[in-house]
Amino acid sequence: MSRILSGIQPTGYLHLGNYLGAIRNWVTMQNDYECLFCIVDLHALTTPQDPQMLRQSIRTAAAVYIAAGIDPKRSIIFNQSQVTGHTQLSWLLSCLTPLGWLNRMTQFKDKAGKQKDQASLGLYAYPVLMAADILIYQATHVPVGEDQKQHLELARDIAGTFNRAYKTEFFPLPEPQILGTATRVMSLRDGLAKMSKSDPSDYSRIHLMDNADTIALKIRKAKTDPAPLPFSPKELESRPEALNLINIYAALQGKTLENVCQQFAGQSFAVFKKELTDILVATLGPITQESQNLLKDISSIDALLAEGNAKANLIAQKNIEEVHNIMGLLRP
Ligand code: TYM
Repeated sequence: MSRILSGIQPTGYLHLGNYLGAIRNWVTMQNDYECLFCIVDLHALTTPQDPQMLRQSIRTAAAVYIAAGIDPKRSIIFNQSQVTGHTQLSWLLSCLTPLGWLNRMTQFKDKAGKQKDQASLGLYAYPVLMAADILIYQATHVPVGEDQKQHLELARDIAGTFNRAYKTEFFPLPEPQILGTATRVMSLRDGLAKMSKSDPSDYSRIHLMDNADTIALKIRKAKTDPAPLPFSPKELESRPEALNLINIYAALQGKTLENVCQQFAGQSFAVFKKELTDILVATLGPITQESQNLLKDISSIDALLAEGNAKANLIAQKNIEEVHNIMGLLRP
């Protein structure tokens, strides 16, 4: 049996990278797989959060999932903190995870920066909780952007270690699904940095809740270079900002970089940016609109999440009992 699990941290607004690298692929996967889509609020707590804002971001993430096309009747949309199996399994897996593996995680190094001793245990253990998110459902496939590849390799290693230690095949080794052409959308201000929720500049990213005017402004201000659009993708090798914008356009239109270069060859960025803005507004506008509609009725969003939490709990509870049994703990 194939089962999908994936998730997004509700820290601030979701952005175009989350959409192209993850959510858009989730929507199509619903046709072929049993899917669970999580709002990973416990992971959000690994960086400081304002409680009021966090609550709002959790509900906004749920609204965006649904507005973007995740169907709560077909897929389970739920909240990580409301399914206790995640943290239970995280502890059990942490007892099998060597520190050396965690020391290699580049996201921890980036986020902890120079003050490693001041970083929290939660930030360090983050990838073990992520492995638990996946393994508690015995998920077989995990659709993510490229930046999560290392975490997924760790999840596979942890699953393999558990299986070997207890001579079982209880955990499938989850396959990363890094799909499409926009697996790493870059910042609009710096073509060498990933588009990210934690970038201090709002102009570095398109939020999924931005209105048409804001999208137009951000694209107008997006960094480019003085040259016109190239004739072929080869010319983009030393032009990271141009490559990023062309890649975003290609991903939104389902075209190749070659197609887009041919379409705009020799034209100015002013012309291209106008077209890119139109396509962004046409794609994201309906999602923003529908998210806003859904957020007018918070009790319905909470009810949908409660339903999802209950369904996820059924699977997680059964599996945690099985893991307890395998490891020699007593069942309740
Ligand atoms: P997060 O919240 O940073 O990102 C959520 C998803 O969006 C993708 N993504 C991007 N894709 C392309 N370009 C970008 N600039 C970009 N930025 C983000 C991410 O790859 C991800 O797929 N650790 C995870 C959340 C998580 C998770 C899980 C994911 C927790 N448990 C279990 C899968 C399975 C994270 O921080 O994603």
